Amino acid sequence: MSYVEGSHHVTLSVGRAQEDVDFHVKILGLRFIKRTVLFDGTLPIYHLYYSNANGDPSSVVTTFPWAQAGFFGKRGTNQAREVLLSIPHDSMNYWHQRLTEHDVEVTNIERFGQRRLAFRHPSGIEYVFVGNTGDERVGHTGYGVPQEHAIHGIHGIGIHVATPDRMVEFANESFFAKDRLAEEGDVAALQIGNQKHGNYLELTVNRTDDQGTWGYGAGTYHHFAWNASTLENQDDVKFQIEGRGYTDISELKDRKYFKSVYVRTPGGALFELAVTHSEGGWTCDESPQELGTRFQLPEQFEDRREEIFARLEPISI
Ligand SMILES: [Fe+2]
Repeated sequence: MSYVEGSHHVTLSVGRAQEDVDFHVKILGLRFIKRTVLFDGTLPIYHLYYSNANGDPSSVVTTFPWAQAGFFGKRGTNQAREVLLSIPHDSMNYWHQRLTEHDVEVTNIERFGQRRLAFRHPSGIEYVFVGNTGDERVGHTGYGVPQEHAIHGIHGIGIHVATPDRMVEFANESFFAKDRLAEEGDVAALQIGNQKHGNYLELTVNRTDDQGTWGYGAGTYHHFAWNASTLENQDDVKFQIEGRGYTDISELKDRKYFKSVYVRTPGGALFELAVTHSEGGWTCDESPQELGTRFQLPEQFEDRREEIFARLEPISI
């Protein structure tokens, strides 16, 4: 029987590369695990990967810094919006203080009876820290973040939709969601897969914003990847989605570290079904200790290495 295990990674279109590194590594304390480029198209754009201590699927945030190419996007409805990250339940005060000290404006919000912290990536993308107990994914202790407060990984994805019913139906039928765990005002929470953490889908009814950008554009969420676990299961899930009429689903793409298909959901957000296969994984081209230290290119770009590197802005970690 086909299934979705939980989350795999989040991919964002951000502004400048260095400000993105500074935000994720130096402020959030995430681990920088991979420095490569966008595999699609011809424009040289970095693809940067950040994770918790172990690079677990469900802990990875990846970014394309599009400002260099002059691609800017618009946040809106019918689009993925919030990056929900899981922190220890008792770490709200620590993070409130740390973000404030780094000149990141942070707001206390309450959702489903729990305190959360809302703040923004430098490109404007909305981040939310959600407190969890019993989340065993090990956080990375970068730039002075103590283990007891380090970020566990992804909590989930926030999507804004004008009409939620089709998206709920899609999540239930094609992604095996547990229907509406909680509802509060215009927000409904669902959970996809059997894992305890990292797999929440929060839908906000938003009929006031314009349609958000679907393509690449700095300042917008690009897609959310779910963990399809095995290539065989990924294929099964893909054919079920197609069989329900969602034919806007891609062929299998080799992302070196994992293999993926992409589907445009009826809520507008782009979903990916990713599988870390036996020849992939973060350690297929660097040792676990060296992750993120060398500039990695897929084979098809190797003969352009010097030209590509010269066209990318230098970054320091
Ligand atoms: Fe992805």
